[in-house]
Amino acid sequence: MPTVIITGASSGIGRALALLMAEEGYDLGLIARRRELLESAQSEISRYHPKIKVKIYPCNVADTDECRKAIFKLAHELQHLDVFVANAGVGGSTPGGDPCWEESQKIIETNVRGAIASLEAAKEIMLKQKSGHLVGISSIAAARGLPQSSAYCMSRAAIAVYLESLRVDLKNRGIFVTSIHPGFVDTPMTKKMSSRPFLVSAEKGAEEIFWAIRRKKARHYFPFMMRVVYPLLKHMPDCVYDWIFSIRREQKIF
Ligand SMILES: NC(=O)c1ccc[n+]([C@@H]2O[C@H](COP(=O)([O-])OP(=O)(O)OC[C@H]3O[C@@H](n4cnc5c(N)ncnc54)[C@H](OP(=O)(O)O)[C@@H]3O)[C@@H](O)[C@H]2O)c1
Repeated sequence: MPTVIITGASSGIGRALALLMAEEGYDLGLIARRRELLESAQSEISRYHPKIKVKIYPCNVADTDECRKAIFKLAHELQHLDVFVANAGVGGSTPGGDPCWEESQKIIETNVRGAIASLEAAKEIMLKQKSGHLVGISSIAAARGLPQSSAYCMSRAAIAVYLESLRVDLKNRGIFVTSIHPGFVDTPMTKKMSSRPFLVSAEKGAEEIFWAIRRKKARHYFPFMMRVVYPLLKHMPDCVYDWIFSIRREQKIF
């Protein structure tokens, strides 16, 4: 049986991906802080797929020592690690006009420190195995510094750049690296947002991610419109970008 460890598997995209990969025959190692939600995912998967091994390890990825321990323990229990998905993440608003170090710190701890610590642990295991596939969930928000989202956009850009560097370094070591860039996915993280253009369900998001894993894509943007939106945002001249967001502020659109 192929194996996967997914962080942030207690809700949203991570949970949907765990269910989908179980259906596809993967043994699973699931990580998140909320034990009861991990147990509920574990029992749902075991009910529908009794032959699939589902191991859980409740932990905070921002506690980097604990996070490494979790990944080594799960990989040992699964006996091999084919795919690792660094998905755990938090959102949060950090308006530039207000003090927001506390909120920024929370985002950096989980989305950057936690994600990199987890990817490094998985990488160590895969280097020993001489095989594996590292996957990180970045975002369309990695393209640009969106208003009120300095820390979040930075955190998603950091992961994308980090993964790109790893991809080049690991090219001849038998380890694939994929960076995933979702647009808006209907999960608890985005539930309260006033506007979610081109929204997709968590299940559709999981299908897109699994498609990219199967094809060993270097990066994948979804839904389809994001393949247009991402380069447009990324390469838009600063003056146009600033103008669009000043209209948005004045007229409260988007
Ligand atoms: N939803 C979107 O539109 C969207 C778009 C682009 C990118 N993303 C990215 O996709 C990933 C998943 O987000 P989601 O939308 O599925 O949100 P979600 O439903 O809120 O899920 C986030 C997951 O991360 C876990 N998590 C958060 N902080 C953690 C920590 N410190 N340690 C361990 N686990 C932690 C949560 O579990 P516990 O609370 O139980 O720990 C939960 O399982 C995030 O990295 C996010 O940035 C989402």
